[in-house]
Amino acid sequence: MERTKEPTRDYPSLSRTPWTFWETLYARRSHRKYLPMEKDSQLEGRLREMVSLAVSVRGAEEGDLLVVTDPGRVEGIKRRAHRGAPNKINLWLSRAPVYGFLVLAVPAEDVRGDTPLRLMKAAVATQDAVLWLTEQGLGTCWLGGINQDEVRKVLGLDAGTVIPAVVSFGRPKPRVRAADFDHLVYRTISRHRKPLPAVARWQRLEVPFPVDSENQASFSVSPTQDVAGLLRKLSEGDAGGGDVPLALGLEACLEAARLAPSAGNAQRWRFVAVTGEGDLEGLAGACGAGGEWRAAVAGLGFPGGWEATFFEKPFWMVDLPIAFSHLTLMAASLGWAVDLRLNGFHAARAAGAVGMTPELRLAGVMGVR
Ligand SMILES: Cc1cc2nc3c(=O)[nH]c(=O)nc-3n(C[C@H](O)[C@H](O)[C@H](O)COP(=O)(O)O)c2cc1C
Repeated sequence: MERTKEPTRDYPSLSRTPWTFWETLYARRSHRKYLPMEKDSQLEGRLREMVSLAVSVRGAEEGDLLVVTDPGRVEGIKRRAHRGAPNKINLWLSRAPVYGFLVLAVPAEDVRGDTPLRLMKAAVATQDAVLWLTEQGLGTCWLGGINQDEVRKVLGLDAGTVIPAVVSFGRPKPRVRAADFDHLVYRTISRHRKPLPAVARWQRLEVPFPVDSENQASFSVSPTQDVAGLLRKLSEGDAGGGDVPLALGLEACLEAARLAPSAGNAQRWRFVAVTGEGDLEGLAGACGAGGEWRAAVAGLGFPGGWEATFFEKPFWMVDLPIAFSHLTLMAASLGWAVDLRLNGFHAARAAGAVGMTPELRLAGVMGVR
């Protein structure tokens, strides 16, 4: 698989055992060009199974994440989703032979509430499915610039349902011409990521994560590296299989979060890794965890971005869950058992434990057992 982002360092080479989950993370990129694809009922069946698994492991609600492959409906979304001025950026959709869509469809009262928990859980599951599709060699693209009323009508959903985003998927068209729209967006926007210390912090928000490139410790990782297998490990709370040093493992998880897609590639997030050297007790206590965590990663978003005004949607509530999919699956690939908390924490206490500033919002915490 082609590597689409510049890695902070060569993580797979540090492991004595195959650490192939990286290949999936690096291979994923947003595809805006597709090739026609024959109907593949077997693939559709496997995708639906995978989505059920992700929905159940992430505690999302059945029906909040839909798989749309019916050709009439797919065509309807392609033709109608870009209606309206702000959605014209996705005009490419009408010409692309997209195979299907993953659709986030959640109750309006959830999205308009203070903590859009159903949306966030469904968004984590959606990114799990995106990574699974990548593993199958398919291309995907998150689409937030959509006319949700039109998409809702195509799917026959009632007015109380909100569709914050959909994900297109299909057979990816390889990049051939430099002047291609897909190629242009890839080169100018999509492949860039902020350096790890700019988004990852160590113990406190103000301290950049120290990437210790001297640390070349050799270790082994979990024998499970495929997305479905990693999800099962997460649900079983199955630790074991790896012996990665804590700081290096946390760095790998943070790098996985750094590679995650975000709306407009804004990367309006910070991830604070906290161990016993920092206020782990304070952060774990705020999450209702006892002494069972040996480290935790808090995911913080900036809720008021340009996209909140432009699309009338604050994308932190989708972007951060996407990053949590990457964080937790990477932890599972290390052989770590983790807890993901997207609610039920004492936000002010957790914020105090990591030194969070008022413009940020705590979206969730991953605790490492
Ligand atoms: C919530 C969300 C909404 C997005 N909306 C759009 C969109 O409307 N149109 C589009 O072409 N890309 C969209 N993207 C894709 C991002 O531009 C892309 O993920 C980012 O530039 C990083 O590139 P990569 O996915 O290739 O790594 C969206 C991504 C996310 C996470």
